[in-house]
Amino acid sequence: MTRVRVVSRGSAGTVTHTLERRSSGVRPSPSRAAPILIRSDHEGGENMPNVFDVLREDHQEVLRALAELESGPPATSASAEQPAAREKLVEHLIIEESKHEAVEEEFFWPAVRDRVPDGDRLADHAVEQEQAAKHVLNDLIGLKADDPKFDELVRGFIADGREHIAYEETSVWPELRKALSAEEADDLGTRLQQGKKAAPTRPHPHTPPKPGLLKTAGPAIAAADRVRDAVTRRGKG
Ligand SMILES: [Fe+2]
Ligand SMILES: [Fe+2]
Repeated sequence: MTRVRVVSRGSAGTVTHTLERRSSGVRPSPSRAAPILIRSDHEGGENMPNVFDVLREDHQEVLRALAELESGPPATSASAEQPAAREKLVEHLIIEESKHEAVEEEFFWPAVRDRVPDGDRLADHAVEQEQAAKHVLNDLIGLKADDPKFDELVRGFIADGREHIAYEETSVWPELRKALSAEEADDLGTRLQQGKKAAPTRPHPHTPPKPGLLKTAGPAIAAADRVRDAVTRRGKG
Protein backbone atom coordinates (compact mmCIF):
# COMPACT_ATOMS: atom_id res chain seq x y z
CA MET A 1 0.00 0.00 0.00
CA THR A 2 1.37 3.42 -0.94
CA ARG A 3 0.24 6.65 0.70
CA VAL A 4 -0.01 9.74 -1.50
CA ARG A 5 -0.49 13.27 -0.14
CA VAL A 6 -2.64 15.53 -2.32
CA VAL A 7 -2.83 19.25 -1.63
CA SER A 8 -5.84 21.25 -2.88
CA ARG A 9 -5.90 25.01 -2.73
CA GLY A 10 -9.03 27.10 -3.02
CA SER A 11 -10.54 30.26 -1.63
CA ALA A 12 -11.46 28.36 1.53
CA GLY A 13 -7.79 27.61 2.18
CA THR A 14 -5.43 24.68 1.74
CA VAL A 15 -6.70 21.13 2.32
CA THR A 16 -4.47 18.08 2.50
CA HIS A 17 -5.87 14.61 1.72
CA THR A 18 -4.09 11.32 2.06
CA LEU A 19 -4.94 8.67 -0.56
CA GLU A 20 -3.97 5.01 -0.37
CA ARG A 21 -2.97 3.07 -3.46
CA ARG A 22 -2.31 -0.65 -3.77
CA SER A 23 1.07 -1.60 -5.18
CA SER A 24 0.03 -4.32 -7.61
CA GLY A 25 3.15 -4.32 -9.74
CA VAL A 26 0.87 -3.42 -12.67
CA ARG A 27 1.00 0.06 -14.16
CA PRO A 28 -2.02 2.03 -12.92
CA SER A 29 -4.69 2.84 -15.45
CA PRO A 30 -4.93 6.58 -16.27
CA SER A 31 -7.99 6.89 -14.04
CA ARG A 32 -5.98 5.61 -11.05
CA ALA A 33 -2.94 7.76 -11.65
CA ALA A 34 -2.11 10.30 -8.94
CA PRO A 35 -4.20 13.45 -9.39
CA ILE A 36 -2.45 16.47 -10.85
CA LEU A 37 -2.64 19.62 -8.77
CA ILE A 38 -3.96 22.52 -10.82
CA ARG A 39 -4.14 25.93 -9.16
CA SER A 40 -7.41 27.73 -9.46
CA ASP A 41 -8.91 30.93 -8.15
CA HIS A 42 -12.04 29.24 -6.91
CA GLU A 43 -13.28 25.94 -5.60
CA GLY A 44 -15.34 25.05 -8.67
CA GLY A 45 -12.61 25.09 -11.34
CA GLU A 46 -10.71 21.90 -10.57
CA ASN A 47 -9.25 21.24 -13.99
CA MET A 48 -10.21 24.24 -16.01
CA PRO A 49 -8.31 27.51 -15.91
CA ASN A 50 -10.75 30.35 -15.34
CA VAL A 51 -10.52 33.78 -16.94
CA PHE A 52 -8.14 35.08 -14.27
CA ASP A 53 -5.84 32.05 -14.56
CA VAL A 54 -5.58 32.49 -18.33
CA LEU A 55 -4.92 36.22 -18.13
CA ARG A 56 -2.47 35.87 -15.24
CA GLU A 57 -0.38 33.38 -17.20
CA ASP A 58 -0.18 35.82 -20.12
CA HIS A 59 0.69 38.72 -17.82
CA GLN A 60 3.47 36.74 -16.16
CA GLU A 61 4.95 35.90 -19.55
CA VAL A 62 4.88 39.57 -20.56
CA LEU A 63 6.35 40.72 -17.23
CA ARG A 64 9.13 38.14 -17.58
CA ALA A 65 10.00 39.48 -21.05
CA LEU A 66 9.91 43.07 -19.76
CA ALA A 67 12.26 42.21 -16.88
CA GLU A 68 14.64 40.55 -19.30
CA LEU A 69 14.60 43.53 -21.63
CA GLU A 70 15.18 45.86 -18.69
CA SER A 71 18.10 43.92 -17.28
CA GLY A 72 19.75 43.89 -20.68
CA PRO A 73 21.03 41.01 -22.77
CA PRO A 74 21.99 37.79 -21.02
CA ALA A 75 25.53 37.95 -19.69
CA THR A 76 26.35 34.73 -21.49
CA SER A 77 25.68 36.08 -25.01
CA ALA A 78 28.59 37.21 -27.06
CA SER A 79 28.44 40.94 -27.76
CA ALA A 80 27.68 40.31 -31.46
CA GLU A 81 24.60 38.26 -30.47
CA GLN A 82 23.18 40.75 -27.98
CA PRO A 83 21.25 42.99 -30.40
CA ALA A 84 19.78 39.95 -32.14
CA ALA A 85 18.68 38.50 -28.79
CA ARG A 86 16.94 41.76 -27.86
CA GLU A 87 15.22 41.95 -31.25
CA LYS A 88 13.99 38.36 -30.85
CA LEU A 89 12.69 39.12 -27.35
CA VAL A 90 10.81 42.19 -28.59
CA GLU A 91 9.35 40.13 -31.44
CA HIS A 92 8.13 37.53 -28.93
CA LEU A 93 6.65 40.30 -26.77
CA ILE A 94 4.79 41.83 -29.74
CA ILE A 95 3.27 38.47 -30.73
CA GLU A 96 2.17 37.59 -27.17
CA GLU A 97 0.84 41.08 -26.44
CA SER A 98 -1.08 41.25 -29.72
CA LYS A 99 -2.87 37.95 -29.11
CA HIS A 100 -3.55 38.82 -25.47
CA GLU A 101 -5.03 42.26 -26.12
CA ALA A 102 -7.08 40.96 -29.07
CA VAL A 103 -8.90 38.41 -26.90
CA GLU A 104 -9.33 40.91 -24.10
CA GLU A 105 -11.03 43.23 -26.59
CA GLU A 106 -13.20 40.45 -27.92
CA PHE A 107 -14.29 38.73 -24.71
CA PHE A 108 -12.94 40.32 -21.53
CA TRP A 109 -13.90 43.99 -21.86
CA PRO A 110 -17.44 43.21 -23.06
CA ALA A 111 -17.88 41.09 -19.90
CA VAL A 112 -16.55 43.92 -17.74
CA ARG A 113 -18.86 46.44 -19.44
CA ASP A 114 -21.82 44.11 -19.13
CA ARG A 115 -21.38 42.81 -15.60
CA VAL A 116 -19.42 45.32 -13.54
CA PRO A 117 -21.02 48.47 -12.18
CA ASP A 118 -18.90 51.29 -13.60
CA GLY A 119 -17.50 48.74 -16.07
CA ASP A 120 -17.58 51.18 -18.98
CA ARG A 121 -15.26 53.61 -17.19
CA LEU A 122 -12.85 50.82 -16.21
CA ALA A 123 -12.84 49.36 -19.73
CA ASP A 124 -12.50 52.73 -21.48
CA HIS A 125 -9.37 53.57 -19.50
CA ALA A 126 -7.77 50.16 -20.13
CA VAL A 127 -8.59 50.17 -23.86
CA GLU A 128 -7.01 53.63 -24.13
CA GLN A 129 -3.81 52.22 -22.56
CA GLU A 130 -3.93 49.25 -24.94
CA GLN A 131 -4.33 51.45 -28.02
CA ALA A 132 -1.32 53.56 -26.99
CA ALA A 133 0.72 50.37 -26.46
CA LYS A 134 -0.26 49.06 -29.91
CA HIS A 135 1.25 52.13 -31.56
CA VAL A 136 4.52 51.61 -29.68
CA LEU A 137 4.65 47.91 -30.55
CA ASN A 138 3.83 48.66 -34.18
CA ASP A 139 6.74 51.11 -34.32
CA LEU A 140 9.01 48.42 -32.88
CA ILE A 141 8.21 45.86 -35.60
CA GLY A 142 11.34 45.25 -37.64
CA LEU A 143 13.33 47.94 -35.80
CA LYS A 144 16.99 47.04 -35.29
CA ALA A 145 18.30 47.08 -31.71
CA ASP A 146 21.09 49.48 -32.63
CA ASP A 147 18.54 52.08 -33.81
CA PRO A 148 18.40 54.82 -31.13
CA LYS A 149 14.60 54.64 -31.21
CA PHE A 150 14.65 50.98 -30.18
CA ASP A 151 15.72 51.50 -26.56
CA GLU A 152 13.57 54.59 -26.18
CA LEU A 153 10.45 52.70 -27.32
CA VAL A 154 11.32 49.65 -25.22
CA ARG A 155 11.84 51.79 -22.10
CA GLY A 156 8.46 53.46 -22.60
CA PHE A 157 6.75 50.13 -23.18
CA ILE A 158 8.26 48.59 -20.03
CA ALA A 159 6.79 51.34 -17.83
CA ASP A 160 3.43 51.51 -19.61
CA GLY A 161 3.09 47.73 -19.88
CA ARG A 162 3.61 47.27 -16.14
CA GLU A 163 1.16 50.05 -15.34
CA HIS A 164 -1.48 48.50 -17.61
CA ILE A 165 -1.11 45.04 -16.10
CA ALA A 166 -1.26 46.45 -12.56
CA TYR A 167 -4.39 48.41 -13.49
CA GLU A 168 -6.15 45.32 -14.83
CA GLU A 169 -5.15 43.11 -11.93
CA THR A 170 -5.85 45.54 -9.09
CA SER A 171 -8.67 47.77 -10.37
CA VAL A 172 -10.60 45.52 -12.77
CA TRP A 173 -10.16 41.87 -11.79
CA PRO A 174 -11.52 42.22 -8.22
CA GLU A 175 -14.70 43.83 -9.58
CA LEU A 176 -15.24 41.18 -12.28
CA ARG A 177 -14.43 38.40 -9.81
CA LYS A 178 -17.29 39.62 -7.61
CA ALA A 179 -19.68 39.76 -10.58
CA LEU A 180 -19.07 36.33 -12.17
CA SER A 181 -20.08 32.90 -10.94
CA ALA A 182 -17.41 30.19 -10.97
CA GLU A 183 -18.99 28.67 -14.09
CA GLU A 184 -19.03 31.99 -15.90
CA ALA A 185 -15.38 32.59 -15.01
CA ASP A 186 -14.48 29.14 -16.39
CA ASP A 187 -16.50 29.73 -19.54
CA LEU A 188 -14.83 33.08 -20.17
CA GLY A 189 -11.43 31.48 -19.60
CA THR A 190 -12.20 28.83 -22.22
CA ARG A 191 -13.30 31.47 -24.73
CA LEU A 192 -10.07 33.42 -24.17
CA GLN A 193 -7.96 30.30 -24.66
CA GLN A 194 -9.80 29.34 -27.84
CA GLY A 195 -9.70 32.90 -29.16
CA LYS A 196 -5.93 33.14 -28.74
CA LYS A 197 -5.42 30.27 -31.18
CA ALA A 198 -6.75 32.37 -34.05
CA ALA A 199 -5.86 35.85 -32.81
CA PRO A 200 -3.77 38.38 -34.75
CA THR A 201 -0.03 38.29 -33.96
CA ARG A 202 0.54 41.94 -34.84
CA PRO A 203 -0.86 44.99 -33.01
CA HIS A 204 -2.97 46.66 -35.78
CA PRO A 205 -3.22 50.06 -34.04
CA HIS A 206 -5.38 51.52 -36.81
CA THR A 207 -8.12 48.92 -36.44
CA PRO A 208 -10.84 50.13 -34.04
CA PRO A 209 -10.68 48.24 -30.72
CA LYS A 210 -14.18 46.83 -30.97
CA PRO A 211 -15.46 43.41 -29.95
CA GLY A 212 -16.58 41.32 -32.92
CA LEU A 213 -13.28 41.76 -34.72
CA LEU A 214 -12.17 38.18 -34.12
CA LYS A 215 -15.44 36.93 -35.57
CA THR A 216 -15.58 39.23 -38.62
CA ALA A 217 -12.40 40.81 -39.98
CA GLY A 218 -10.28 39.07 -37.34
CA PRO A 219 -9.80 35.71 -39.06
CA ALA A 220 -8.58 37.39 -42.27
CA ILE A 221 -6.24 39.71 -40.35
CA ALA A 222 -4.92 36.90 -38.16
CA ALA A 223 -4.43 34.62 -41.18
CA ALA A 224 -2.51 37.35 -43.01
CA ASP A 225 -0.34 37.88 -39.92
CA ARG A 226 0.42 34.18 -39.69
CA VAL A 227 1.29 33.90 -43.39
CA ARG A 228 3.70 36.81 -43.02
CA ASP A 229 5.10 35.20 -39.85
CA ALA A 230 5.69 31.93 -41.69
CA VAL A 231 7.39 33.62 -44.64
CA THR A 232 9.71 35.65 -42.43
CA ARG A 233 10.10 32.89 -39.79
CA ARG A 234 8.89 35.51 -37.30
CA GLY A 235 8.38 34.10 -33.79
CA LYS A 236 10.62 31.10 -34.54
CA GLY A 237 13.68 30.52 -32.36
FE1 LIG B 1 -4.97 44.58 -21.55
FE1 LIG C 1 -4.21 41.95 -19.80
